[in-house]
Amino acid sequence: MRTVSWHEGKVRMIDQRQLPWELSFLDFDDYRAVASAITDMVVRGAPAIGAAAAFGMAVASNQAPSPNPSEHLRFLNEAATTLKAARPTAVNLAWAVDRVLLAGQSQKFQSVDDIRSTILTEAQQIADEDILINKRMGEYGASLIQDGDTILHHCNTGALATVDWGTALGVIRSAHAQGKRFHVLLDETRPRLQGARLSAWELKQENIPFDIIADNAAGHFMRTGEVKVVLVGSDRTAANGDVANKIGTYKLAVVARENGIPFYPVVPTSTIDLNLPTGDEIPIEERHPDEVRAPFGHAIIPDDYPVRNPAFDVTPHRYVTGIVTENGIAYPPFVLNLRRAVAGELS
Ligand code: MRU
Repeated sequence: MRTVSWHEGKVRMIDQRQLPWELSFLDFDDYRAVASAITDMVVRGAPAIGAAAAFGMAVASNQAPSPNPSEHLRFLNEAATTLKAARPTAVNLAWAVDRVLLAGQSQKFQSVDDIRSTILTEAQQIADEDILINKRMGEYGASLIQDGDTILHHCNTGALATVDWGTALGVIRSAHAQGKRFHVLLDETRPRLQGARLSAWELKQENIPFDIIADNAAGHFMRTGEVKVVLVGSDRTAANGDVANKIGTYKLAVVARENGIPFYPVVPTSTIDLNLPTGDEIPIEERHPDEVRAPFGHAIIPDDYPVRNPAFDVTPHRYVTGIVTENGIAYPPFVLNLRRAVAGELS
Protein backbone atom coordinates (compact mmCIF):
# COMPACT_ATOMS: atom_id res chain seq x y z
CA MET A 1 0.00 0.00 0.00
CA ARG A 2 1.44 3.32 -1.07
CA THR A 3 1.09 6.50 1.01
CA VAL A 4 0.84 8.58 -2.16
CA SER A 5 -0.22 7.30 -5.59
CA TRP A 6 -1.82 8.27 -8.89
CA HIS A 7 -5.34 6.94 -9.17
CA GLU A 8 -7.67 7.59 -12.13
CA GLY A 9 -6.29 11.04 -12.91
CA LYS A 10 -6.06 12.15 -9.27
CA VAL A 11 -3.48 12.13 -6.49
CA ARG A 12 -4.53 9.65 -3.82
CA MET A 13 -3.14 10.03 -0.30
CA ILE A 14 -3.66 8.31 3.01
CA ASP A 15 -5.18 10.91 5.32
CA GLN A 16 -2.55 10.66 8.05
CA ARG A 17 -4.48 12.95 10.37
CA GLN A 18 -6.98 10.12 10.96
CA LEU A 19 -4.45 7.44 11.94
CA PRO A 20 -4.24 5.22 13.94
CA TRP A 21 -8.02 5.26 14.38
CA GLU A 22 -9.01 5.14 10.74
CA LEU A 23 -7.27 4.26 7.48
CA SER A 24 -8.88 6.56 4.93
CA PHE A 25 -7.85 8.00 1.58
CA LEU A 26 -8.37 11.37 -0.05
CA ASP A 27 -8.24 12.07 -3.80
CA PHE A 28 -7.17 15.44 -5.24
CA ASP A 29 -7.68 16.88 -8.70
CA ASP A 30 -6.67 20.47 -7.91
CA TYR A 31 -3.02 21.36 -7.32
CA ARG A 32 -3.94 24.08 -4.83
CA ALA A 33 -5.75 21.48 -2.77
CA VAL A 34 -2.64 19.27 -2.96
CA ALA A 35 -0.58 22.19 -1.61
CA SER A 36 -3.11 22.67 1.23
CA ALA A 37 -3.02 18.94 2.01
CA ILE A 38 0.76 19.19 2.40
CA THR A 39 0.49 22.29 4.62
CA ASP A 40 -2.27 20.69 6.72
CA MET A 41 -0.31 17.43 7.01
CA VAL A 42 -2.79 15.12 5.36
CA VAL A 43 0.50 13.86 3.96
CA ARG A 44 3.78 14.50 5.75
CA GLY A 45 7.37 13.27 5.86
CA ALA A 46 9.98 14.66 3.48
CA PRO A 47 9.93 12.05 0.67
CA ALA A 48 6.13 11.67 0.86
CA ILE A 49 5.51 15.38 0.40
CA GLY A 50 8.01 15.38 -2.48
CA ALA A 51 6.06 12.61 -4.23
CA ALA A 52 2.71 14.27 -3.43
CA ALA A 53 3.92 17.56 -4.91
CA ALA A 54 5.28 15.79 -8.00
CA PHE A 55 1.83 14.27 -8.59
CA GLY A 56 0.42 17.73 -7.76
CA MET A 57 2.29 18.98 -10.81
CA ALA A 58 0.64 16.25 -12.90
CA VAL A 59 -2.73 17.47 -11.58
CA ALA A 60 -1.76 21.05 -12.48
CA SER A 61 -0.85 19.92 -15.96
CA ASN A 62 -4.33 18.43 -16.35
CA GLN A 63 -5.86 21.66 -15.02
CA ALA A 64 -3.84 23.99 -17.26
CA PRO A 65 -6.36 25.19 -19.82
CA SER A 66 -4.17 26.34 -22.66
CA PRO A 67 -3.51 24.30 -25.80
CA ASN A 68 -0.42 26.46 -26.22
CA PRO A 69 2.71 24.76 -24.75
CA SER A 70 4.41 27.95 -23.55
CA GLU A 71 1.26 29.17 -21.78
CA HIS A 72 0.84 25.70 -20.35
CA LEU A 73 4.38 25.88 -18.96
CA ARG A 74 3.67 29.32 -17.49
CA PHE A 75 0.72 27.80 -15.61
CA LEU A 76 2.95 24.96 -14.43
CA ASN A 77 5.52 27.43 -13.14
CA GLU A 78 2.83 29.11 -11.03
CA ALA A 79 1.71 25.73 -9.72
CA ALA A 80 5.33 24.88 -8.88
CA THR A 81 5.67 28.07 -6.83
CA THR A 82 2.49 27.28 -4.89
CA LEU A 83 3.46 23.66 -4.23
CA LYS A 84 7.01 24.51 -3.17
CA ALA A 85 5.69 27.06 -0.67
CA ALA A 86 3.47 24.47 1.07
CA ARG A 87 6.14 23.61 3.66
CA PRO A 88 9.58 25.23 3.91
CA THR A 89 11.99 22.83 5.62
CA ALA A 90 11.97 19.57 3.64
CA VAL A 91 14.10 20.07 0.56
CA ASN A 92 12.50 17.04 -1.16
CA LEU A 93 9.48 19.21 -1.94
CA ALA A 94 11.39 21.68 -4.13
CA TRP A 95 13.63 18.89 -5.45
CA ALA A 96 10.68 16.85 -6.71
CA VAL A 97 8.73 19.80 -8.12
CA ASP A 98 11.79 21.14 -9.95
CA ARG A 99 12.55 17.68 -11.32
CA VAL A 100 9.12 17.24 -12.93
CA LEU A 101 9.08 20.84 -14.13
CA LEU A 102 12.43 20.39 -15.82
CA ALA A 103 11.18 17.22 -17.49
CA GLY A 104 8.10 19.10 -18.74
CA GLN A 105 10.16 22.03 -19.98
CA SER A 106 12.39 19.79 -22.02
CA GLN A 107 9.27 19.04 -24.09
CA LYS A 108 8.47 22.70 -24.77
CA PHE A 109 8.46 22.41 -28.53
CA GLN A 110 6.04 19.49 -28.40
CA SER A 111 2.32 19.40 -27.70
CA VAL A 112 0.59 19.98 -24.36
CA ASP A 113 -0.29 16.28 -24.33
CA ASP A 114 3.44 15.45 -24.50
CA ILE A 115 4.13 17.76 -21.57
CA ARG A 116 1.31 16.15 -19.57
CA SER A 117 2.49 12.62 -20.12
CA THR A 118 6.14 13.55 -19.47
CA ILE A 119 5.23 15.16 -16.16
CA LEU A 120 3.12 12.22 -15.03
CA THR A 121 5.84 9.73 -16.02
CA GLU A 122 8.44 11.71 -14.09
CA ALA A 123 6.21 11.91 -11.01
CA GLN A 124 5.58 8.15 -11.17
CA GLN A 125 9.30 7.61 -11.46
CA ILE A 126 10.00 9.71 -8.35
CA ALA A 127 7.46 7.61 -6.43
CA ASP A 128 8.82 4.28 -7.71
CA GLU A 129 12.45 5.27 -7.11
CA ASP A 130 11.64 6.32 -3.55
CA ILE A 131 10.73 2.75 -2.61
CA LEU A 132 13.89 1.29 -4.17
CA ILE A 133 16.03 3.95 -2.46
CA ASN A 134 14.46 3.18 0.92
CA LYS A 135 15.12 -0.51 0.50
CA ARG A 136 18.76 0.19 -0.33
CA MET A 137 19.09 2.39 2.75
CA GLY A 138 17.42 -0.40 4.69
CA GLU A 139 20.10 -2.87 3.63
CA TYR A 140 22.97 -0.54 4.55
CA GLY A 141 21.36 0.60 7.78
CA ALA A 142 20.39 -2.88 9.00
CA SER A 143 24.11 -3.61 9.46
CA LEU A 144 24.02 -1.12 12.36
CA ILE A 145 21.47 -3.18 14.30
CA GLN A 146 22.50 -6.21 16.38
CA ASP A 147 20.36 -8.93 17.94
CA GLY A 148 19.14 -7.80 21.35
CA ASP A 149 19.50 -4.07 20.65
CA THR A 150 17.08 -1.40 21.78
CA ILE A 151 16.70 1.30 19.13
CA LEU A 152 15.48 4.81 19.90
CA HIS A 153 13.44 6.38 17.09
CA HIS A 154 11.91 9.85 16.70
CA CYS A 155 8.83 11.04 14.77
CA ASN A 156 7.57 8.89 11.89
CA THR A 157 10.04 7.96 9.19
CA GLY A 158 8.21 4.92 7.89
CA ALA A 159 6.12 3.99 4.88
CA LEU A 160 3.83 6.89 5.77
CA ALA A 161 6.66 9.44 5.61
CA THR A 162 7.77 8.13 2.22
CA VAL A 163 6.00 6.41 -0.65
CA ASP A 164 6.57 3.04 1.04
CA TRP A 165 9.01 1.21 3.37
CA GLY A 166 10.57 4.26 5.06
CA THR A 167 13.94 5.77 5.93
CA ALA A 168 14.95 5.17 9.58
CA LEU A 169 11.87 3.00 10.11
CA GLY A 170 12.74 1.35 6.79
CA VAL A 171 16.09 0.33 8.32
CA ILE A 172 14.17 -1.14 11.24
CA ARG A 173 11.84 -2.93 8.81
CA SER A 174 14.81 -4.34 6.85
CA ALA A 175 16.59 -5.56 10.00
CA HIS A 176 13.35 -7.27 11.08
CA ALA A 177 12.99 -8.86 7.62
CA GLN A 178 16.54 -10.22 8.04
CA GLY A 179 15.38 -12.02 11.19
CA LYS A 180 17.10 -9.76 13.70
CA ARG A 181 15.42 -9.53 17.09
CA PHE A 182 15.38 -6.14 18.76
CA HIS A 183 13.15 -3.66 20.55
CA VAL A 184 12.18 -0.13 19.54
CA LEU A 185 11.48 2.85 21.80
CA LEU A 186 9.24 5.29 19.94
CA ASP A 187 9.34 8.92 21.02
CA GLU A 188 5.72 10.06 21.02
CA THR A 189 6.91 13.26 19.26
CA ARG A 190 4.94 16.19 20.53
CA PRO A 191 3.02 18.12 19.41
CA ARG A 192 1.61 16.09 16.48
CA LEU A 193 2.47 12.69 17.92
CA GLN A 194 3.82 11.17 14.72
CA GLY A 195 5.74 8.61 16.80
CA ALA A 196 2.85 7.53 19.02
CA ARG A 197 0.23 7.55 16.27
CA LEU A 198 2.02 6.67 13.04
CA SER A 199 5.26 4.82 13.83
CA ALA A 200 3.46 2.66 16.38
CA TRP A 201 0.72 1.90 13.82
CA GLU A 202 3.37 0.75 11.34
CA LEU A 203 5.39 -1.36 13.79
CA LYS A 204 2.25 -3.04 15.08
CA GLN A 205 1.43 -4.20 11.55
CA GLU A 206 4.94 -5.65 11.22
CA ASN A 207 4.86 -7.32 14.67
CA ILE A 208 8.01 -5.45 15.65
CA PRO A 209 8.12 -5.07 19.44
CA PHE A 210 8.01 -1.47 20.65
CA ASP A 211 7.13 0.82 23.52
CA ILE A 212 5.95 4.37 23.11
CA ILE A 213 7.70 6.77 25.44
CA ALA A 214 7.02 10.40 26.33
CA ASP A 215 9.64 12.55 24.60
CA ASN A 216 10.99 13.56 27.99
CA ALA A 217 11.80 9.92 28.84
CA ALA A 218 14.39 9.44 26.08
CA GLY A 219 17.27 10.82 28.17
CA HIS A 220 16.45 8.42 30.99
CA PHE A 221 16.59 5.38 28.72
CA MET A 222 19.88 6.55 27.22
CA ARG A 223 21.55 7.23 30.56
CA THR A 224 20.48 3.89 32.03
CA GLY A 225 22.11 2.02 29.15
CA GLU A 226 19.02 0.58 27.46
CA VAL A 227 19.45 2.36 24.13
CA LYS A 228 22.12 0.97 21.81
CA VAL A 229 21.54 3.14 18.73
CA VAL A 230 19.46 6.20 17.78
CA LEU A 231 17.91 6.22 14.28
CA VAL A 232 16.14 9.28 12.87
CA GLY A 233 15.21 10.74 9.49
CA SER A 234 15.94 14.17 8.05
CA ASP A 235 14.03 16.85 6.19
CA ARG A 236 17.16 18.57 4.95
CA THR A 237 20.81 17.79 5.50
CA ALA A 238 23.36 20.51 4.71
CA ALA A 239 26.66 19.92 2.89
CA ASN A 240 28.60 19.80 6.18
CA GLY A 241 26.34 17.10 7.67
CA ASP A 242 24.17 19.35 9.85
CA VAL A 243 20.81 17.58 9.99
CA ALA A 244 17.40 19.27 10.14
CA ASN A 245 14.74 16.92 11.45
CA LYS A 246 11.63 16.87 13.62
CA ILE A 247 11.81 19.12 16.66
CA GLY A 248 13.49 17.29 19.53
CA THR A 249 16.08 15.50 17.39
CA TYR A 250 18.88 17.85 18.50
CA LYS A 251 18.32 17.04 22.17
CA LEU A 252 18.44 13.31 21.40
CA ALA A 253 21.74 13.68 19.55
CA VAL A 254 23.37 15.62 22.38
CA VAL A 255 22.25 13.12 25.02
CA ALA A 256 23.31 10.23 22.77
CA ARG A 257 26.81 11.71 22.50
CA GLU A 258 26.95 12.30 26.28
CA ASN A 259 26.21 8.58 26.75
CA GLY A 260 28.41 7.21 23.96
CA ILE A 261 25.43 6.01 21.88
CA PRO A 262 25.76 6.13 18.07
CA PHE A 263 23.37 8.55 16.35
CA TYR A 264 22.52 7.83 12.69
CA PRO A 265 20.19 9.88 10.48
CA VAL A 266 18.87 7.85 7.53
CA VAL A 267 18.76 10.22 4.59
CA PRO A 268 18.06 9.68 0.88
CA THR A 269 20.34 11.82 -1.28
CA SER A 270 17.26 13.82 -2.39
CA THR A 271 17.24 15.20 1.18
CA ILE A 272 20.87 16.34 1.02
CA ASP A 273 21.11 20.01 0.06
CA LEU A 274 24.66 20.56 -1.15
CA ASN A 275 23.76 24.19 -1.90
CA LEU A 276 23.62 24.93 1.82
CA PRO A 277 27.06 24.95 3.46
CA THR A 278 25.67 24.56 7.00
CA GLY A 279 22.41 23.89 8.80
CA ASP A 280 22.18 27.53 9.89
CA GLU A 281 20.74 28.35 6.45
CA ILE A 282 17.94 25.75 6.67
CA PRO A 283 14.53 27.44 7.00
CA ILE A 284 12.73 26.20 10.09
CA GLU A 285 8.95 25.97 9.81
CA GLU A 286 6.97 27.52 12.68
CA ARG A 287 3.52 25.97 12.86
CA HIS A 288 0.28 27.20 14.41
CA PRO A 289 0.35 27.53 18.22
CA ASP A 290 -2.93 25.61 18.46
CA GLU A 291 -1.03 22.39 17.66
CA VAL A 292 0.51 22.80 21.13
CA ARG A 293 -2.50 24.34 22.88
CA ALA A 294 -5.06 21.90 21.57
CA PRO A 295 -3.53 18.77 20.01
CA PHE A 296 -6.07 17.26 17.60
CA GLY A 297 -8.72 19.64 18.87
CA HIS A 298 -8.42 18.68 22.55
CA ALA A 299 -7.67 21.87 24.47
CA ILE A 300 -5.07 21.42 27.19
CA ILE A 301 -4.35 25.09 27.87
CA PRO A 302 -6.35 28.29 27.29
CA ASP A 303 -6.39 29.95 23.86
CA ASP A 304 -4.63 33.09 25.05
CA TYR A 305 -1.54 31.41 26.54
CA PRO A 306 1.39 32.33 24.29
CA VAL A 307 3.10 29.41 22.55
CA ARG A 308 6.07 28.86 20.21
CA ASN A 309 5.89 25.90 17.84
CA PRO A 310 8.99 25.29 15.69
CA ALA A 311 8.44 22.05 13.74
CA PHE A 312 12.12 21.19 13.18
CA ASP A 313 15.55 21.70 14.68
CA VAL A 314 19.09 21.36 13.41
CA THR A 315 21.56 18.87 14.85
CA PRO A 316 25.15 20.04 14.31
CA HIS A 317 27.23 17.46 12.44
CA ARG A 318 29.60 16.95 15.38
CA TYR A 319 26.87 14.89 17.07
CA VAL A 320 26.27 12.72 14.00
CA THR A 321 28.03 9.34 13.94
CA GLY A 322 27.22 8.60 10.30
CA ILE A 323 24.56 9.27 7.67
CA VAL A 324 22.90 6.30 5.99
CA THR A 325 22.15 6.98 2.31
CA GLU A 326 21.05 4.75 -0.56
CA ASN A 327 24.65 4.83 -1.78
CA GLY A 328 26.23 3.71 1.49
CA ILE A 329 26.93 5.12 4.95
CA ALA A 330 28.74 8.47 4.96
CA TYR A 331 31.08 9.08 7.91
CA PRO A 332 33.02 12.25 8.78
CA PRO A 333 34.39 14.31 7.16
CA PHE A 334 30.84 14.90 5.89
CA VAL A 335 31.86 17.82 3.66
CA LEU A 336 33.72 15.29 1.55
CA ASN A 337 31.69 12.14 2.06
CA LEU A 338 28.20 13.59 1.54
CA ARG A 339 29.33 14.88 -1.86
CA ARG A 340 30.60 11.40 -2.62
CA ALA A 341 27.31 9.90 -1.43
CA VAL A 342 25.30 12.19 -3.70
CA ALA A 343 27.57 11.36 -6.63
CA GLY A 344 27.27 7.62 -5.85
CA GLU A 345 30.99 7.43 -5.16
CA LEU A 346 31.12 6.30 -1.54
CA SER A 347 33.53 3.40 -1.33
O1 MRU B 1 6.45 17.39 10.24
P1 MRU B 1 6.64 16.04 9.60
O2 MRU B 1 5.80 14.98 10.22
O3 MRU B 1 6.51 16.11 8.11
O4 MRU B 1 8.16 15.67 9.92
C1 MRU B 1 8.68 14.48 9.45
C2 MRU B 1 10.08 14.25 9.92
O5 MRU B 1 10.65 15.06 10.61
C3 MRU B 1 10.77 13.04 9.40
O6 MRU B 1 11.72 12.63 10.33
C4 MRU B 1 11.45 13.39 8.08
O7 MRU B 1 10.52 13.81 7.13
C5 MRU B 1 12.32 12.37 7.50
S1 MRU B 1 11.72 10.72 7.43
C6 MRU B 1 11.15 10.37 5.95
